[in-house]
Amino acid sequence: MFKTQKSFHPFKQKTDAYILFISDIPKKLTGFLKEADEALSGQLSTLIKSQVISSKKFSEFVLTAPPTCPTSYFIFVGIGANASSDTLRHASAQSIRTAKRLRCETVVFDHASGQEITEGCVLGLYEFAEYKSKKADPFSFKSITILSDKASVDKGIVLGESVNLARSLANRPGNDLNPETFASYAKKYFAKSKVSVSVIDAKKAKQLKMNGLLAVGQGSSTESRLLVLSYNNAPKKKPIALVGKGVTFDTGGISIKPGKGMSEMKGDMGGAAAVFGALNALSTLQAKTNVIGLIPLAENMPSSKAQRPGDILTMMNGTTVEVINTDAEGRLILADALHYAVTLGAKQILDIATLTGACSVALGNESAAVLGNDDTLLDAIKTASATTGEKVWELPLFEEFYDYIKSPIADIMNAVETKGGGTCTAAKFLEQFVDNTPWIHVDMASVMSHGGTKGYHVKGMSGFGVRLLTEFVTQL
Ligand code: BES
Ligand code: ZN
Ligand code: ZN
Repeated sequence: MFKTQKSFHPFKQKTDAYILFISDIPKKLTGFLKEADEALSGQLSTLIKSQVISSKKFSEFVLTAPPTCPTSYFIFVGIGANASSDTLRHASAQSIRTAKRLRCETVVFDHASGQEITEGCVLGLYEFAEYKSKKADPFSFKSITILSDKASVDKGIVLGESVNLARSLANRPGNDLNPETFASYAKKYFAKSKVSVSVIDAKKAKQLKMNGLLAVGQGSSTESRLLVLSYNNAPKKKPIALVGKGVTFDTGGISIKPGKGMSEMKGDMGGAAAVFGALNALSTLQAKTNVIGLIPLAENMPSSKAQRPGDILTMMNGTTVEVINTDAEGRLILADALHYAVTLGAKQILDIATLTGACSVALGNESAAVLGNDDTLLDAIKTASATTGEKVWELPLFEEFYDYIKSPIADIMNAVETKGGGTCTAAKFLEQFVDNTPWIHVDMASVMSHGGTKGYHVKGMSGFGVRLLTEFVTQL
């Protein structure tokens, strides 16, 4: 579907849609715009004068060309001066959906940013239709041509599709995706790839004393497990561990959540999906690195077998935890996975999780929170964020927060209900399980999903973190 070409002339060559990004409107039309204006009998200058066509970010105008023109539609999209790469992604997503609405089978983007445009298109055209009994829309593009090089377009396809893979995992409902089906899907999915998959089942987890992981899943008829994805393509380099929270459904357990909005909690494995997608991207791009993806999988259900508030657990690393609130389950499963990463000799650790509702209270819904014990890794994630447009914002990990999570009867407790700073105290809890390993924590609860479609954000689970983690690991 994606093609590249050096140049394209819409008045001499045929296409259904020709998409042009406008970064500024010149006082006097020159070059291509002048030529276009003449070919369109002065229509263009009139539309520009009346500001119907403008450089205003994401303003859009579709001009139907006269029948003599080999191009059917011109789609003008404003991107403002000095557009960022993320603006290009959003503008591409928006305009490719317009082209689809117009049933344009052949499309040309007159822009050289191959990777960003491709990412925007792949992300913006995503639809989650797996559970529709009737095929939604039979339309398909014949060609999307970008005036760029093949390598950047190919990279954009891999990254976009890896995000969509994560979105589809996260969108799958809890009755379909549970710890067991997630693990078997991983085995099948990566079977022919350079990612090797192994699963620590509940029996093995018990031997390893992963009591946090087991306690969270003990109320469910599907047992917890730890999914281990390994990708090795850099001999002798110590691996980085990527740990993703995989709660396939979070009812809250005995500390049950209110019913309103609970269905969203099928997406409580967004961190797991991000790690899954990042390993897919890194292995497809043949990145020169060694990565261990650790995905603790559990379903947090209330039942007669479920853990109770007040229970005390001895975690894999020996720390005792008083379970104040069974809805603070993410940190319990991550704790054992983080310690397991340490025992595997990870040189650095990143974890990503839909961990706290407090994250949205602190930051709104534009960025994830990032916290950690290592400035180099914090800088690296911020750089990766700037490149990918997946926003992160640092929150503090003050040593004083340790006092907040101290338990009167165990070492620490899993919830602090009387004080604010819920995202920070959750991260403080996780820090107890990484020893001195350089580590950062990404809380993506605030960007888990989108309520509507805008630019490359599509209604439903976001797939946040795939591009961020891939870039982070590649640049490290
Ligand atoms: N999965 C939730 C956090 C969440 C909330 C993610 C909203 C996405 C959207 C997590 O397991 C949870 O319930 N956390 C509690 C912790 C509290 C009990 C200390 C929360 O945030 O309320
Ligand atoms: Zn919870
Ligand atoms: Zn949760």
